[in-house]
Amino acid sequence: MEWPANLPISLSLFPLAVLFLLLLLRAKSSKKRYPPGPSGWPIFGNLFDLGSMPHRTLTDMRQKYGHIIWLRLGSMNTMVILSAKAATEFFKNHDLSFADRTITETMRAHDYNQGSLALAPYGSYWRVLRRLVTVDMIVLKRINETTYVRRKCVDDMLQWIEEESCRVGQATGVHVARFVFLMTFNLLGNLMLSRDLFDPESKVGSEFFEAMLGLMEWSGHANLADFFPWLRWLDLQGLRKNMERDLGKAMEIASRFVKEKVEEKKVASDSRKDFLDVLLEFKGTGKDEPAELSDRELNIFILEIFLAGSETTSSTIEWALTELLCNPESMIKVKAELAQRAS
Ligand code: HEM
Repeated sequence: MEWPANLPISLSLFPLAVLFLLLLLRAKSSKKRYPPGPSGWPIFGNLFDLGSMPHRTLTDMRQKYGHIIWLRLGSMNTMVILSAKAATEFFKNHDLSFADRTITETMRAHDYNQGSLALAPYGSYWRVLRRLVTVDMIVLKRINETTYVRRKCVDDMLQWIEEESCRVGQATGVHVARFVFLMTFNLLGNLMLSRDLFDPESKVGSEFFEAMLGLMEWSGHANLADFFPWLRWLDLQGLRKNMERDLGKAMEIASRFVKEKVEEKKVASDSRKDFLDVLLEFKGTGKDEPAELSDRELNIFILEIFLAGSETTSSTIEWALTELLCNPESMIKVKAELAQRAS
Protein backbone atom coordinates (compact mmCIF):
# COMPACT_ATOMS: atom_id res chain seq x y z
CA MET A 1 0.00 0.00 0.00
CA GLU A 2 1.32 3.50 -0.92
CA TRP A 3 1.48 6.16 1.77
CA PRO A 4 -0.67 9.12 0.50
CA ALA A 5 1.56 12.08 -0.38
CA ASN A 6 -0.86 14.74 0.89
CA LEU A 7 -1.33 13.27 4.39
CA PRO A 8 -0.99 15.89 7.19
CA ILE A 9 2.44 15.76 8.88
CA SER A 10 0.94 15.02 12.31
CA LEU A 11 -0.77 11.90 10.87
CA SER A 12 2.21 10.70 8.88
CA LEU A 13 4.29 10.86 12.07
CA PHE A 14 1.74 8.72 13.88
CA PRO A 15 3.40 5.33 13.18
CA LEU A 16 6.75 6.75 14.31
CA ALA A 17 5.20 8.04 17.51
CA VAL A 18 3.68 4.60 18.19
CA LEU A 19 7.03 2.93 17.56
CA PHE A 20 8.77 5.33 19.93
CA LEU A 21 6.12 4.72 22.59
CA LEU A 22 6.53 0.96 22.21
CA LEU A 23 10.31 1.26 22.56
CA LEU A 24 9.84 3.44 25.61
CA LEU A 25 7.39 0.99 27.17
CA ARG A 26 9.74 -1.88 26.42
CA ALA A 27 12.62 -0.02 27.97
CA LYS A 28 10.52 0.83 31.02
CA SER A 29 9.17 -2.69 31.48
CA SER A 30 12.61 -4.21 30.99
CA LYS A 31 13.99 -1.87 33.65
CA LYS A 32 11.84 -3.70 36.19
CA ARG A 33 13.54 -7.00 35.48
CA TYR A 34 17.12 -6.01 34.85
CA PRO A 35 19.86 -4.38 36.94
CA PRO A 36 20.10 -0.58 36.75
CA GLY A 37 21.96 1.25 34.02
CA PRO A 38 21.89 4.34 31.84
CA SER A 39 18.75 4.48 29.69
CA GLY A 40 20.54 5.03 26.35
CA TRP A 41 19.19 5.79 22.89
CA PRO A 42 16.61 3.89 20.92
CA ILE A 43 18.33 1.40 18.57
CA PHE A 44 21.91 2.38 19.59
CA GLY A 45 21.29 1.85 23.29
CA ASN A 46 24.37 2.74 25.34
CA LEU A 47 26.92 2.46 22.55
CA PHE A 48 27.69 6.18 22.72
CA ASP A 49 27.86 6.22 26.53
CA LEU A 50 31.05 4.19 26.72
CA GLY A 51 33.49 6.71 25.24
CA SER A 52 37.02 5.93 24.11
CA MET A 53 38.03 4.43 27.48
CA PRO A 54 35.15 2.08 28.34
CA HIS A 55 36.92 0.62 31.41
CA ARG A 56 37.15 4.09 32.98
CA THR A 57 33.61 5.05 32.01
CA LEU A 58 32.31 1.86 33.59
CA THR A 59 34.26 2.51 36.79
CA ASP A 60 32.65 5.96 36.96
CA MET A 61 29.19 4.48 36.31
CA ARG A 62 29.63 2.37 39.43
CA GLN A 63 29.11 5.48 41.58
CA LYS A 64 25.71 6.02 40.06
CA TYR A 65 24.34 2.55 39.32
CA GLY A 66 26.12 0.20 41.71
CA HIS A 67 28.24 -2.90 41.17
CA ILE A 68 26.07 -4.63 38.61
CA ILE A 69 25.11 -2.59 35.57
CA TRP A 70 22.87 -3.37 32.62
CA LEU A 71 23.81 -1.96 29.23
CA ARG A 72 22.29 -2.30 25.80
CA LEU A 73 24.98 -2.18 23.15
CA GLY A 74 22.88 -1.89 20.01
CA SER A 75 20.69 -4.94 20.36
CA MET A 76 23.21 -6.81 22.50
CA ASN A 77 22.23 -6.94 26.16
CA THR A 78 25.27 -6.77 28.39
CA MET A 79 25.64 -7.15 32.12
CA VAL A 80 28.74 -5.56 33.64
CA ILE A 81 30.13 -6.83 36.94
CA LEU A 82 32.15 -4.17 38.71
CA SER A 83 33.29 -5.57 42.03
CA ALA A 84 35.11 -8.63 43.29
CA LYS A 85 32.21 -9.32 45.65
CA ALA A 86 29.63 -9.39 42.85
CA ALA A 87 31.98 -11.45 40.66
CA THR A 88 32.44 -13.99 43.46
CA GLU A 89 28.68 -14.28 43.81
CA PHE A 90 28.37 -14.95 40.06
CA PHE A 91 31.17 -17.45 39.81
CA LYS A 92 30.17 -19.25 43.00
CA ASN A 93 26.42 -19.35 42.89
CA HIS A 94 25.44 -18.66 39.28
CA ASP A 95 28.40 -20.00 37.35
CA LEU A 96 26.47 -22.41 35.16
CA SER A 97 23.87 -19.85 34.11
CA PHE A 98 26.61 -17.57 32.82
CA ALA A 99 29.19 -20.13 31.65
CA ASP A 100 28.40 -19.92 27.94
CA ARG A 101 29.94 -17.21 25.82
CA THR A 102 28.68 -14.77 23.27
CA ILE A 103 29.67 -15.95 19.82
CA THR A 104 30.75 -12.97 17.77
CA GLU A 105 30.30 -12.76 14.02
CA THR A 106 33.96 -13.27 13.09
CA MET A 107 34.08 -16.41 15.23
CA ARG A 108 31.46 -18.02 13.01
CA ALA A 109 33.80 -18.00 10.01
CA HIS A 110 34.44 -21.57 8.84
CA ASP A 111 32.23 -22.62 11.81
CA TYR A 112 35.22 -22.00 14.07
CA ASN A 113 32.94 -21.66 17.09
CA GLN A 114 31.78 -25.24 16.67
CA GLY A 115 35.22 -26.71 17.36
CA SER A 116 36.45 -24.14 19.85
CA LEU A 117 37.19 -24.84 23.51
CA ALA A 118 36.78 -21.24 24.62
CA LEU A 119 33.42 -20.88 22.85
CA ALA A 120 32.03 -24.37 23.44
CA PRO A 121 28.84 -24.48 25.51
CA TYR A 122 29.31 -26.00 28.96
CA GLY A 123 29.03 -29.75 28.30
CA SER A 124 30.89 -32.92 27.39
CA TYR A 125 32.91 -31.56 24.44
CA TRP A 126 34.11 -28.58 26.51
CA ARG A 127 34.98 -30.94 29.40
CA VAL A 128 37.10 -33.19 27.18
CA LEU A 129 39.11 -30.32 25.70
CA ARG A 130 39.47 -28.63 29.04
CA ARG A 131 40.73 -31.87 30.58
CA LEU A 132 43.32 -32.27 27.81
CA VAL A 133 44.66 -28.79 28.52
CA THR A 134 44.69 -29.10 32.30
CA VAL A 135 45.96 -32.70 32.50
CA ASP A 136 48.38 -32.81 29.56
CA MET A 137 49.50 -29.27 28.96
CA ILE A 138 49.38 -26.89 31.88
CA VAL A 139 50.61 -29.25 34.60
CA LEU A 140 53.76 -28.95 36.66
CA LYS A 141 55.27 -32.14 35.24
CA ARG A 142 54.92 -30.93 31.64
CA ILE A 143 56.09 -27.46 32.60
CA ASN A 144 59.23 -28.90 34.20
CA GLU A 145 59.84 -31.23 31.25
CA THR A 146 59.76 -28.32 28.84
CA THR A 147 62.02 -25.93 30.77
CA TYR A 148 64.75 -26.23 28.15
CA VAL A 149 62.35 -25.22 25.34
CA ARG A 150 61.27 -22.13 27.22
CA ARG A 151 64.87 -21.27 28.08
CA LYS A 152 65.83 -21.53 24.41
CA CYS A 153 62.90 -19.38 23.25
CA VAL A 154 63.65 -16.70 25.86
CA ASP A 155 67.36 -16.73 24.94
CA ASP A 156 66.44 -16.31 21.27
CA MET A 157 64.21 -13.39 22.21
CA LEU A 158 66.95 -11.68 24.21
CA GLN A 159 69.24 -12.02 21.23
CA TRP A 160 66.63 -10.51 18.87
CA ILE A 161 66.14 -7.59 21.26
CA GLU A 162 69.88 -7.02 21.54
CA GLU A 163 70.29 -7.10 17.77
CA GLU A 164 67.37 -4.73 17.32
CA SER A 165 68.66 -2.26 19.91
CA CYS A 166 72.06 -2.24 18.17
CA ARG A 167 70.31 -1.66 14.86
CA VAL A 168 68.00 1.19 15.90
CA GLY A 169 70.21 2.80 18.57
CA GLN A 170 69.24 3.79 22.11
CA ALA A 171 67.38 6.98 21.18
CA THR A 172 64.67 5.12 19.23
CA GLY A 173 63.93 2.36 21.72
CA VAL A 174 62.79 -1.21 21.12
CA HIS A 175 59.18 -2.40 21.01
CA VAL A 176 59.68 -5.18 23.57
CA ALA A 177 56.10 -6.54 23.37
CA ARG A 178 56.62 -7.36 19.70
CA PHE A 179 59.53 -9.61 20.55
CA VAL A 180 57.70 -11.15 23.50
CA PHE A 181 54.86 -11.95 21.10
CA LEU A 182 57.22 -13.63 18.64
CA MET A 183 58.82 -15.54 21.50
CA THR A 184 55.47 -16.85 22.80
CA PHE A 185 54.48 -17.82 19.30
CA ASN A 186 57.66 -19.84 18.90
CA LEU A 187 57.32 -21.27 22.36
CA LEU A 188 53.79 -22.49 21.65
CA GLY A 189 55.00 -23.79 18.28
CA ASN A 190 57.60 -25.87 20.10
CA LEU A 191 55.28 -27.10 22.84
CA MET A 192 52.46 -27.97 20.46
CA LEU A 193 54.15 -28.95 17.22
CA SER A 194 57.85 -29.31 18.05
CA ARG A 195 58.86 -26.58 15.62
CA ASP A 196 59.98 -22.98 15.50
CA LEU A 197 57.29 -21.07 13.66
CA PHE A 198 58.91 -17.69 13.61
CA ASP A 199 61.92 -18.70 11.63
CA PRO A 200 62.94 -16.39 8.79
CA GLU A 201 63.99 -19.52 6.90
CA SER A 202 60.56 -21.12 7.14
CA LYS A 203 58.06 -19.91 4.51
CA VAL A 204 55.18 -21.91 5.94
CA GLY A 205 55.99 -20.64 9.46
CA SER A 206 55.81 -17.02 8.26
CA GLU A 207 52.54 -17.67 6.41
CA PHE A 208 51.04 -19.24 9.52
CA PHE A 209 52.26 -16.34 11.64
CA GLU A 210 50.77 -13.76 9.24
CA ALA A 211 47.44 -15.58 9.10
CA MET A 212 47.30 -15.80 12.91
CA LEU A 213 48.05 -12.08 13.22
CA GLY A 214 45.08 -11.52 10.93
CA LEU A 215 42.84 -13.71 13.11
CA MET A 216 43.73 -11.68 16.19
CA GLU A 217 43.21 -8.43 14.38
CA TRP A 218 39.79 -9.24 12.86
CA SER A 219 38.43 -10.89 16.00
CA GLY A 220 39.61 -7.95 18.12
CA HIS A 221 37.74 -5.24 16.19
CA ALA A 222 34.40 -3.95 17.42
CA ASN A 223 32.05 -5.28 14.74
CA LEU A 224 28.79 -3.53 13.85
CA ALA A 225 27.35 -6.92 12.91
CA ASP A 226 27.54 -7.99 16.57
CA PHE A 227 25.60 -4.97 17.81
CA PHE A 228 23.12 -4.90 14.93
CA PRO A 229 22.63 -8.48 13.73
CA TRP A 230 20.31 -7.38 10.93
CA LEU A 231 23.38 -5.73 9.33
CA ARG A 232 25.32 -8.99 9.34
CA TRP A 233 24.78 -9.80 5.69
CA LEU A 234 26.38 -6.48 4.65
CA ASP A 235 29.65 -7.13 6.50
CA LEU A 236 30.17 -3.36 6.44
CA GLN A 237 33.72 -3.45 7.85
CA GLY A 238 34.77 -6.47 5.80
CA LEU A 239 35.74 -8.28 9.01
CA ARG A 240 33.93 -11.52 8.21
CA LYS A 241 35.49 -11.62 4.74
CA ASN A 242 38.99 -11.04 6.12
CA MET A 243 38.42 -13.61 8.84
CA GLU A 244 37.22 -16.21 6.32
CA ARG A 245 40.40 -15.64 4.32
CA ASP A 246 42.94 -15.73 7.18
CA LEU A 247 41.23 -18.43 9.20
CA GLY A 248 40.97 -20.57 6.07
CA LYS A 249 44.69 -20.12 5.50
CA ALA A 250 45.61 -20.84 9.14
CA MET A 251 43.42 -23.96 9.23
CA GLU A 252 44.89 -25.21 6.02
CA ILE A 253 48.44 -24.82 7.36
CA ALA A 254 47.50 -26.36 10.73
CA SER A 255 46.08 -29.37 8.90
CA ARG A 256 49.37 -29.66 6.97
CA PHE A 257 51.26 -29.68 10.31
CA VAL A 258 48.99 -32.45 11.56
CA LYS A 259 49.44 -34.55 8.42
CA GLU A 260 53.23 -34.17 8.60
CA LYS A 261 53.16 -35.23 12.23
CA VAL A 262 51.09 -38.32 11.42
CA GLU A 263 53.58 -39.27 8.70
CA GLU A 264 56.52 -38.63 11.05
CA LYS A 265 55.01 -40.85 13.72
CA LYS A 266 54.78 -43.73 11.23
CA VAL A 267 58.55 -43.75 10.73
CA ALA A 268 60.00 -42.39 14.00
CA SER A 269 58.54 -43.87 17.16
CA ASP A 270 60.87 -42.13 19.62
CA SER A 271 60.22 -38.53 18.56
CA ARG A 272 59.67 -35.94 21.29
CA LYS A 273 56.12 -35.97 22.64
CA ASP A 274 54.34 -32.68 22.10
CA PHE A 275 50.76 -31.53 22.62
CA LEU A 276 49.77 -32.53 19.11
CA ASP A 277 50.79 -36.11 19.98
CA VAL A 278 48.49 -35.93 22.99
CA LEU A 279 45.62 -34.77 20.79
CA LEU A 280 46.29 -37.42 18.16
CA GLU A 281 46.42 -40.15 20.80
CA PHE A 282 43.23 -39.04 22.53
CA LYS A 283 40.67 -41.83 22.89
CA GLY A 284 37.33 -40.93 24.43
CA THR A 285 34.59 -43.27 25.60
CA GLY A 286 32.36 -42.46 22.65
CA LYS A 287 29.39 -42.35 25.04
CA ASP A 288 29.27 -39.06 26.89
CA GLU A 289 32.32 -37.76 25.02
CA PRO A 290 33.68 -38.12 21.46
CA ALA A 291 35.63 -41.32 20.69
CA GLU A 292 38.33 -39.22 19.05
CA LEU A 293 38.91 -35.70 17.83
CA SER A 294 38.12 -35.07 14.18
CA ASP A 295 40.77 -33.45 11.95
CA ARG A 296 38.74 -30.25 11.98
CA GLU A 297 38.46 -30.17 15.77
CA LEU A 298 42.14 -30.84 16.04
CA ASN A 299 43.09 -27.97 13.71
CA ILE A 300 40.82 -25.55 15.52
CA PHE A 301 42.17 -26.63 18.90
CA ILE A 302 45.74 -25.95 17.75
CA LEU A 303 44.84 -22.49 16.47
CA GLU A 304 43.01 -21.79 19.68
CA ILE A 305 46.03 -22.41 21.86
CA PHE A 306 48.02 -19.97 19.76
CA LEU A 307 45.24 -17.41 20.04
CA ALA A 308 44.85 -17.96 23.78
CA GLY A 309 48.52 -17.94 24.68
CA SER A 310 50.39 -15.46 22.50
CA GLU A 311 48.86 -11.98 22.57
CA THR A 312 47.61 -12.40 26.13
CA THR A 313 51.14 -13.06 27.32
CA SER A 314 52.80 -10.25 25.36
CA SER A 315 50.13 -7.69 26.36
CA THR A 316 50.41 -8.67 30.03
CA ILE A 317 54.18 -8.28 29.95
CA GLU A 318 53.89 -4.98 28.09
CA TRP A 319 51.41 -3.74 30.68
CA ALA A 320 53.60 -4.90 33.57
CA LEU A 321 56.69 -3.22 32.10
CA THR A 322 54.75 0.01 31.58
CA GLU A 323 53.60 -0.03 35.20
CA LEU A 324 57.16 -0.69 36.37
CA LEU A 325 58.53 2.17 34.28
CA CYS A 326 55.90 4.44 35.85
CA ASN A 327 56.80 3.22 39.36
CA PRO A 328 60.61 3.38 39.75
CA GLU A 329 60.48 2.07 43.34
CA SER A 330 58.77 -1.12 42.27
CA MET A 331 61.22 -1.43 39.39
CA ILE A 332 64.14 -1.34 41.85
CA LYS A 333 62.50 -4.09 43.94
CA VAL A 334 61.84 -6.27 40.88
CA LYS A 335 65.40 -5.87 39.63
CA ALA A 336 66.75 -6.78 43.07
CA GLU A 337 64.54 -9.87 43.19
CA LEU A 338 65.66 -10.96 39.73
CA ALA A 339 69.32 -10.41 40.63
CA GLN A 340 68.85 -12.46 43.80
CA ARG A 341 67.26 -15.33 41.87
CA ALA A 342 70.00 -15.28 39.26
CA SER A 343 72.80 -15.47 41.85
C1 HEM B 1 49.20 -13.70 30.68
C2 HEM B 1 48.68 -14.52 29.81
C3 HEM B 1 47.25 -14.96 29.77
C4 HEM B 1 46.14 -14.30 30.14
C5 HEM B 1 46.01 -12.88 30.70
C6 HEM B 1 45.02 -15.19 29.90
C7 HEM B 1 43.71 -14.89 30.16
C8 HEM B 1 42.65 -15.76 29.98
C9 HEM B 1 41.28 -15.48 30.33
C10 HEM B 1 40.78 -14.20 30.97
C11 HEM B 1 40.55 -16.56 29.99
C12 HEM B 1 39.06 -16.74 30.16
C13 HEM B 1 38.85 -17.48 31.47
C14 HEM B 1 37.40 -17.76 31.75
O1 HEM B 1 36.59 -16.89 31.51
O2 HEM B 1 37.10 -18.87 32.17
C15 HEM B 1 41.45 -17.53 29.42
C16 HEM B 1 41.07 -18.75 28.94
C17 HEM B 1 41.91 -19.65 28.36
N1 HEM B 1 43.28 -19.56 28.28
FE1 HEM B 1 44.37 -18.01 28.90
N2 HEM B 1 45.49 -16.38 29.40
C18 HEM B 1 46.85 -16.28 29.29
C19 HEM B 1 47.72 -17.23 28.81
C20 HEM B 1 47.35 -18.45 28.31
C21 HEM B 1 48.25 -19.44 27.77
C22 HEM B 1 49.78 -19.29 27.72
C23 HEM B 1 47.49 -20.50 27.35
C24 HEM B 1 47.91 -21.80 26.71
C25 HEM B 1 49.09 -22.19 26.49
C26 HEM B 1 46.11 -20.17 27.63
C27 HEM B 1 45.06 -20.98 27.35
C28 HEM B 1 43.75 -20.68 27.64
C29 HEM B 1 42.64 -21.54 27.29
C30 HEM B 1 42.73 -22.87 26.56
C31 HEM B 1 41.48 -20.89 27.75
C32 HEM B 1 40.03 -21.36 27.61
C33 HEM B 1 39.59 -22.06 28.84
C34 HEM B 1 38.09 -22.36 28.81
O3 HEM B 1 37.33 -21.68 28.11
O4 HEM B 1 37.70 -23.26 29.50
N3 HEM B 1 46.07 -18.94 28.21
N4 HEM B 1 42.73 -17.02 29.43
